[in-house]
Amino acid sequence: MNATSFPVWIDGAVVPADRATVHVMTPTLHYGWGVYEGVRFYETARGPSAFRLTAHLRRLRTSARALSMEIPYTDDELARACRDVVAVSGLSSGYLRPLVFLAEGAMSVAAQLDHVRVAIGCWSWPSYLGDQEAGIRVRTSGWVRSAPNAVPPSVKSTGGYVNASLARLDAVRSGAQEAIMLNAAGRVAEASAANVFIVVGGELATPPLSEGILPGITRDAVLAMADDLGVSVVERPIAPAELRVASEVMLAGTAVELTAVAVLDDVPLSADRPVFDELRARFDLAVQGGLPGREDWAEALTPDA
Ligand SMILES: Cc1ncc(COP(=O)(O)O)c(C=O)c1O
Repeated sequence: MNATSFPVWIDGAVVPADRATVHVMTPTLHYGWGVYEGVRFYETARGPSAFRLTAHLRRLRTSARALSMEIPYTDDELARACRDVVAVSGLSSGYLRPLVFLAEGAMSVAAQLDHVRVAIGCWSWPSYLGDQEAGIRVRTSGWVRSAPNAVPPSVKSTGGYVNASLARLDAVRSGAQEAIMLNAAGRVAEASAANVFIVVGGELATPPLSEGILPGITRDAVLAMADDLGVSVVERPIAPAELRVASEVMLAGTAVELTAVAVLDDVPLSADRPVFDELRARFDLAVQGGLPGREDWAEALTPDA
């Protein structure tokens, strides 16, 4: 079973995969005018639980509004839709993909913003990048992260992922698993599907949102967990050279969860990662609803929740 096999919630009902269809003349396909979310759900003692579903649904609506699309469902209805599609799928853990797109119709740029549709798929996605704790190979990309006044990285738009995909494709072709993109000012922005953290002088640092990045929900969780731990943490611009001198480099995102960078631009980094190890242990508890003070991050997907 893969992403195309599982039932899909679309326009208000869960249907078999082969009935979740769209007309090829949707402007979303032609112009990339759509927004989406990626939400992981985990097998927990309370049944499948989505990590910070409420925050993801909030960001979905913000992204949609940034493209002048009004989602024709409340957040409660979308949360119920997520519960329904997971229940029908039979999956105990996996990945949810709410997608907001335009119905078929007048075919010109941003012509048909009034007929907005929503689909939510789910599938099993055990691990995006292989061994997250052993660390992965990452390459600094020659592709520049799109500027906020071009295609805003703060909006999780379907079209915006051409930029990220170009970067990751090059990285994968060169034997790495992820790409770190710089912004137009030449400072660290983010990875193709994750936010970047470094440890320098014992301090955890990550670029601020003003550097032109997605406001990652995992990033937000890492900042909160670091705070809880008493780790000194700062949001500040990061020069690419700092990636080379950092004692730890890590990526945070729904797909990668919390993943250490083991090799950056073919240079091995230290395998001693005390900050990553602590954060990763907390993250693993948090997704289960077992991190004290952060229990509400794990949102039960059981039908009666
Ligand atoms: C470009 C980009 N940055 C950061 C992230 C991390 O965001 P989140 O933690 O909300 O998944 C993602 C993943 O969705 C992403 O695609």
